Amino acid sequence: MKLAIIGWGNVGRALGRLLRAKRRDFPFRITGIHTLRHGTAIAPAGLSRDAIEASNFGPRAASIEAFLDAAAADCAVELTTLNPSTGEPAIAHIHAAFARGMHVVTANKGPIAHAYAALRDEAHRAGRGFRFESAVMDGAPVFNLFRHTMPAVKVLGFAGVLNSTSKVVVETMEHGGAFEDGLAAARALGITEADGAYDVEGWDSAAKAAALANVLMDARTTPQAASVRGITRLTPERVQQMAREGKTVRLVSRGRRSGNTVSLRVRAEVLDRSHLLAATPGTSNLILFETDLMGTFGTVSINPGVDQTAYGVFSDLVSLL
Ligand SMILES: NC(=O)c1ccc[n+]([C@@H]2O[C@H](COP(=O)([O-])OP(=O)(O)OC[C@H]3O[C@@H](n4cnc5c(N)ncnc54)[C@H](OP(=O)(O)O)[C@@H]3O)[C@@H](O)[C@H]2O)c1
Repeated sequence: MKLAIIGWGNVGRALGRLLRAKRRDFPFRITGIHTLRHGTAIAPAGLSRDAIEASNFGPRAASIEAFLDAAAADCAVELTTLNPSTGEPAIAHIHAAFARGMHVVTANKGPIAHAYAALRDEAHRAGRGFRFESAVMDGAPVFNLFRHTMPAVKVLGFAGVLNSTSKVVVETMEHGGAFEDGLAAARALGITEADGAYDVEGWDSAAKAAALANVLMDARTTPQAASVRGITRLTPERVQQMAREGKTVRLVSRGRRSGNTVSLRVRAEVLDRSHLLAATPGTSNLILFETDLMGTFGTVSINPGVDQTAYGVFSDLVSLL
């Protein structure tokens, strides 16, 4: 399967390493890489290792359409920066790929949070696959969990600790560091959005909540419909005082169906340390689903990093293959 990759940052490069490590069993070929400031690489027969590992590619393709036409791939892999306000330009990238008969895999939650139903219908009309397992919880199964293993189960609500950056910031402050130190530590792990404000102000969590609601609850909502308050007002003193009282803070994304609507809420919640949502360390993510037939159950991912995000993308590619 030939791949046209749009965006070659932390996740793109981690995916490149994974594709190389698994190339004997899964012979994917990267025929194009397109970036914003680092140019474009094209080789219809497959890019060499040296070409893929270059720090700068050739001249940037004039448009996404020109890039996709030149790459002539079977599948577009959308890994550009999150825009939680509109989901663009990733949505336009995905439309362009479907218009060329390509499957699409993305780790970008923007399109799922803003335009899921339209993109799903477009994929269906085009007879192409559309996968996005990494958009919410890196490689840990969330969407595939329901798609493959829980027939007939309806999701009534969810509560998730889904933003690793804010957890690293809170833990850094608990250990005496400043807010900015925590953000720098998360950035060094490659897990922070290009604009870290999206993480700590709660917009990454709101986009994930909207994506979950759109896919699992047919909500047709957006991040802007969520009531959002992030962790920016926390101080090391306040966090350490809570720690002395056996409490901590988690940025929690919640969704709940009432009648025909789904309400979304993101809050920095003060929780007992023993609370399930507070129990996991470091960058760990955890989500609990409330359902009609399976009660409440969840998924947890302990200390995921960018390699787990790359795995989620890889798992989608293998499924399509
Ligand atoms: N990092 C994680 O742990 C993680 C986890 C789950 C999901 N995600 C999602 O995965 C996506 C990628 O994350 P990342 O950490 O790899 O981001 P990143 O390191 O900031 O890389 C983003 C890449 O997208 C390129 N890009 C931006 N706008 C573009 C445009 N208009 N056209 C073509 N290329 C464009 C950038 O080009 P330049 O290199 O030229 O700047 C860069 O290569 C994001 O949507 C993020 O939300 C990330």
